[in-house]
Amino acid sequence: MNQSPSAPRQTKLLAADAAGIAEAAELLRAGGLVALPTETVYGLAADATSGTAVAGIYAAKERPSFNPLISHLPDLASARRQGLFDANALALAQNFWPGPLTLVVPASPGCTVSELARAGLATVALRVPAHPVAHAVLAAAGRPIAAPSANRSGRISATSAEDALADLGGRIDAVLDAGPTEVGVESTVVSCLDGAPRLLRPGGVPREAIEHVIGRPLVIAGDAGHAPISPGMLASHYAPAARVRLDAEAPQPGEAWLGFGPDGNDDHPQALNLSPSGDLREAASHLFGYLRRLDTLGPSAIAVARIPEQGLGEAINDRLRRAAAPR
Ligand code: TXA
Ligand code: MG
Repeated sequence: MNQSPSAPRQTKLLAADAAGIAEAAELLRAGGLVALPTETVYGLAADATSGTAVAGIYAAKERPSFNPLISHLPDLASARRQGLFDANALALAQNFWPGPLTLVVPASPGCTVSELARAGLATVALRVPAHPVAHAVLAAAGRPIAAPSANRSGRISATSAEDALADLGGRIDAVLDAGPTEVGVESTVVSCLDGAPRLLRPGGVPREAIEHVIGRPLVIAGDAGHAPISPGMLASHYAPAARVRLDAEAPQPGEAWLGFGPDGNDDHPQALNLSPSGDLREAASHLFGYLRRLDTLGPSAIAVARIPEQGLGEAINDRLRRAAAPR
């Protein structure tokens, strides 16, 4: 596939059956770009070992190229060929893989992930996703696959094939459609570099569950004395076109409403409720899709109900604060 990273492409819609999975893996092996499902969000996948293929990701997403990417693998054994796992990293991998956890570890001497995917760092971000279709593609591709969320940079993460196609159609080779994703927020990112595991990004595995496994509190990136070392922590990120107003009681005139729990605003003409019963897992799975739907209504702002800061609420509030950040 000798296209320049930014040349226009015909984007195929592939079904998530044996033929579609085989074609997706073949495209990836040939250096192509494929949006594929994971249990968190759709990923924009490319061969992580090929700098040219990875460059295509940055071009299609219009992403600032200093952001390192997550490399996805089918199992722990193949991940251990790419990175050096200390006792904490190993315990976390054994407990949460396959699943929505990314581990940032020192790159191994034999690491094949390209410099570009690692943004020149001596570390590598590794994840074994739980989605059966992602697993099948990764096993067939037989190499680490880089995949940031399948949306253009700064936009809302894609949680369905339609979202991925809307943002990236004409810029990538294929979208592998396995329906909407289950978790709805990205993986939790934890670094295990110097014996003190750090939370770089809250996500699909709650912090409390990780702390339970390592038996100590996580250092939070951005805490006093710790610079935010994950560029994905950039404040203005995941932004809809509309302004976002957080911790709202009720919508003001012209505003759309993103509710949570029995908040009494469901009759508002531009209202969606993340979880009428107040279930944080259900809320996470709807977050990005509902933000997109409300945004297309063209409101003056999207007012969002208060979300409890516990369990998956930490990741939901993190994404909402970025969506609301001044830009
Ligand atoms: O759920 C997910 O994680 C999705 C799906 C597709 O797997 N992927 C995803 O990738 O969200 P991305 O590229 O959007 O997020 C990568 C995060 C960013 O916060 C990035 O800065 C951080 O991981 N990261 C990657 N490599 C790193 C490294 N070596 N050191 C520190 N942070 C790193
Ligand atoms: Mg993203």
